[in-house]
Amino acid sequence: MTQTRHILVTSALPYANGPIHLGHLVEYIQTDIWARFQKMQGHTCHYVCADDTHGTPIMLRAEKEGITPEALIQRVQVEHERDFKGFYVAFDHYYSTHSPETKELAETIYGRLKDGGFIESRAIEQYFDPLKEMFLPDRFIKGECPRCHAKDQYGDSCEACGATYSPTDLLNPVSAISGAIPVRKESVHYFFKLGQCGDFLKTWTRAGHLQSEAANKMAEWFEAGLADWDISRDAPYFGFEIPGAPGKFFYVWLDAPIGYMGSFKKYAELKGIDFDAYWKQGSDTELYHFIGKDILYFHALFWPAMLEHAGFRTPTKIFAHGFLTVNGEKMSKSRGTFITAESYLKEGLNPEWLRYYYACKLNGSMEDIDLNLEDFSLRVNADLVGKYINIASRTAGFVTKHLEGQLDPDFLASADGKTQMAMITESAVSISKAYEQRDYAKATREIMRIADSINEYVNDQAPWKVAKTENPEKDLLRICTRSLQGFYALSILLAPLLPQLTQRVAREFFGMARDFQWSDLECSPRRTLPYEHLMTRVEPQKIQQLIDSNRDNLEAAASSGTPVAATIPIAETIGIDDFSKIDLRVVRIVAADHVEGAEKLLRLSLDLGTETRTVFAGIKSAYDPKQLEGKLTVMVANLAPRKMKFGLSEGMVLAASDDRGGPFILFPDQGAEPGMRIK
Ligand code: 2FM
Ligand code: ZN
Repeated sequence: MTQTRHILVTSALPYANGPIHLGHLVEYIQTDIWARFQKMQGHTCHYVCADDTHGTPIMLRAEKEGITPEALIQRVQVEHERDFKGFYVAFDHYYSTHSPETKELAETIYGRLKDGGFIESRAIEQYFDPLKEMFLPDRFIKGECPRCHAKDQYGDSCEACGATYSPTDLLNPVSAISGAIPVRKESVHYFFKLGQCGDFLKTWTRAGHLQSEAANKMAEWFEAGLADWDISRDAPYFGFEIPGAPGKFFYVWLDAPIGYMGSFKKYAELKGIDFDAYWKQGSDTELYHFIGKDILYFHALFWPAMLEHAGFRTPTKIFAHGFLTVNGEKMSKSRGTFITAESYLKEGLNPEWLRYYYACKLNGSMEDIDLNLEDFSLRVNADLVGKYINIASRTAGFVTKHLEGQLDPDFLASADGKTQMAMITESAVSISKAYEQRDYAKATREIMRIADSINEYVNDQAPWKVAKTENPEKDLLRICTRSLQGFYALSILLAPLLPQLTQRVAREFFGMARDFQWSDLECSPRRTLPYEHLMTRVEPQKIQQLIDSNRDNLEAAASSGTPVAATIPIAETIGIDDFSKIDLRVVRIVAADHVEGAEKLLRLSLDLGTETRTVFAGIKSAYDPKQLEGKLTVMVANLAPRKMKFGLSEGMVLAASDDRGGPFILFPDQGAEPGMRIK
């Protein structure tokens, strides 16, 4: 008998200003599967989450809608909870960071950090919008890139050349909120002295709390040095005011992770659970955070450092996952692949198809995962309908018709029973290890291997032929009991992935009074009720409808009055001589790779026919590098080489973009060859 574990598990808190989409669901489905698996093992597992409600974008969004931030976050929380429920993501408690519990905990943690000498205040200079009378976060300042002079770039980085800089380096800055020219202004800010936590963090991040890829990332960050963290923002700001600092608010990222505690605190109060047992230093309970790899810095550095120095326990493990691509590319509104959870359900697609497909792709690493919509239909139809459901649909009818629904009660002790059980119990051990390690891809592979062997048995025994013989009952009882015992075991093994379907199997098919537990693998079903259709196949036209309904199409934009023509004015006229100075060539992309540490760039190796060039292109947001390899594109071949942070860029590839989307690389028509000049 294994000991009961006490586990608290969280998924990252979604922002309260946008809908849940399929990218979010990678994480919530992943966590939900894990929490359900732990519960099926008989462990105590609490899964909590909340909406992340504070910050400037939420405040401005509410203002734009003419409502209070409180009204906005309330409405969005209802929508989020509806979507999660639709995908069977079963939180034990879903809350909001805008709660008295989170406020109190944020004040406690801040107070203890301050008492411990971890908070410092100093004046800093920032851009201020004189019209809106507010300081501007980097993303709300636009201007000209100081390096490549591309217009309309954000205050922190340039999408055209990949440069990163501080907003005060931007040329001709304007406020993206009011259009006013911002002025520089000083204000006192509060800092968490992360630099002072270096020794603790170096030990903590190497002590097995992180995946190895994440631990390596930490080493890079340590090398770059731990900068103090600005945890305050000036009014107007939607958030919690800092005690003893009127007009100063906690930065949203300070109270967001505290929202995990706040949600659990409220839940603990409602259920009579001992909150401190889970959060005190030295607690023997387990705490896991599932997050996307983009927010590792907050969870693997700031969060443990805050907890440790405020006298709370630190996480047992941080599980980071990669991003979602759809058909090999970043989700895109113009391509219709920015798919909301709501639209998926509205178009009548089965949420368990997606749960299963994601499971097939998730292996516990930080690699990105791809939702290939064609593969999605093929995989779900082949595995769930063609292998798993097929066992029941081919055997159950004989049991109800010839055997009055009764299965062999002594099956497990029979020779057939022993053979099958040996195979299943052995696989169940490694399947459960795979679930524990979040390697659901491995779990699904092994489960489908069992399904294959049961289907082989059904094919060999051909109960439909046996049923036509005289007195078929005895043989049918043997064949169908063995097949349905297999179906029963598969249902238990699949239960964390397919909670709704397997609940129906337990209750409506095997007539059980409760849902499956892992220990049910040691038992045998006694009877079956008449077979009801359990799952339909994915129809490709439904997927097309889904894409269409998510596409921000131009007609819709036109009818809503949104300008559809290019919003960037046509540049000054030039003569043909000017144009002919630009040497545009067809090139073949022979290699495309991510650039370590660069948010937007891909490194391209371009074959011009006569030579190979390296070009850094700001197209990472839209392209999976491997998908580009072998394709032809167009480059400016006589652009002076530019030294970038990551190496020398020897030219530029052409890509289109504006507010409506992009970047879209240009691909020449068939027949073009590397080296051909564009004239
Ligand atoms: O990146 C995000 O979407 C954040 N809202 C995640 C917060 S997770 C936690 F720290 F609260
Ligand atoms: Zn630039």
